[in-house]
Amino acid sequence: MKVDGKNMRPIWFDESSQVVQAIDQRFLPHKLIIKNLNNVDDTIHAIKEMVVRGAPLIGASGALGVFISLVQENNKGADNDYLVSECNRLKDARPTAMNLVWGVDRVLSTALKYQNYDGRVKAALDEALAIVEEEAVNCEKIGAYGMPIIEEISKQKNGGPVNILTHCNAGWLACIEYGTATAPIYTAFDNDIDVHVWVDETRPLNQGSRLTAWELGKHGVNHTVITDNAGGHIMQHGMVDLVIVGTDRTTRAGDVANKIGTYLKALAAKDNNIPFYVALPSSTFDWDITDGIADIPIEERDPDEIRYIQGLCQGKIEKVLVPPETSMAANHAFDVTPARLVTGFITERGVCRATEKDIMSLFPDKQKG
Ligand code: MRU
Repeated sequence: MKVDGKNMRPIWFDESSQVVQAIDQRFLPHKLIIKNLNNVDDTIHAIKEMVVRGAPLIGASGALGVFISLVQENNKGADNDYLVSECNRLKDARPTAMNLVWGVDRVLSTALKYQNYDGRVKAALDEALAIVEEEAVNCEKIGAYGMPIIEEISKQKNGGPVNILTHCNAGWLACIEYGTATAPIYTAFDNDIDVHVWVDETRPLNQGSRLTAWELGKHGVNHTVITDNAGGHIMQHGMVDLVIVGTDRTTRAGDVANKIGTYLKALAAKDNNIPFYVALPSSTFDWDITDGIADIPIEERDPDEIRYIQGLCQGKIEKVLVPPETSMAANHAFDVTPARLVTGFITERGVCRATEKDIMSLFPDKQKG
């Protein structure tokens, strides 16, 4: 996607330096800083500290991390045990996004087919870059399949603005291109459909107000940042036509883990008869589980992310303490929205209802047994 006229992705392999580079998302929207991922420790740090974040991007970063583990200084990449243990460290960096395990395992299994070191390095890089390209295409398809949902509402409103609420950042910064939740929005906008996006600020790290608002603004999409608690109120007053969110892991039966607060938006949408869609590539489905509340691991992060808030102060990025110094804080990073609250999924293979039967009819290759 374009940033000030320049094509950008959140992660890429720089041919000239032979280094994987990423936008450091911790400092957006105020500073655009690029970080080199020189070794596995850098990559794990980037994933844990959310230099890179969002499920598809975490998957792509893990995939490139396998290549990085092979070429890092003092590499022992020809040693299978060493490679597997570096991959296990990568997979442990964050627990909720399905894509991380998926991306690392896919490149690892390709790399292990090659005993010759140079062959292994090339195969790992090719496979990781294939994942990056596939995810970009998947998001484009999600945009194409999701746009008619917005178009239909636009027709019902005689071309009036379609108000879409989204939570967290499921945009291109979280993916490679287009985003998941934002892909139908960008596609609708690019096709001259009038859209307006309600952007949940998404405490504690404000991926909505920092990242989604930045992305939408750079693309020229009308948007308004709201507090996380405003959704119910604006839904009751007819100000939301549609909710679209992303997901970090979705079970084969359609339970959805996404950024904390998503569940409350789904409840409010249900109570107000507002369609609630989840956009995702197939790499985010966990085909082995059905019960999201019981089986999806929910990350708990550093309570300081709640205690301190970051922003721009006289040209400098600063963090300030909000609650009393001695107060405890608890930072549950994701929640699970049960399938019964989800109107449908928008995937790279089309749109389906949130039932195991309908998901399986789109993905018959994932049928058990
Ligand atoms: O903690 P984050 O910023 O990695 O959480 C991201 C989200 O919750 C996104 O909505 C999700 O990964 C979908 S990304 C297309």
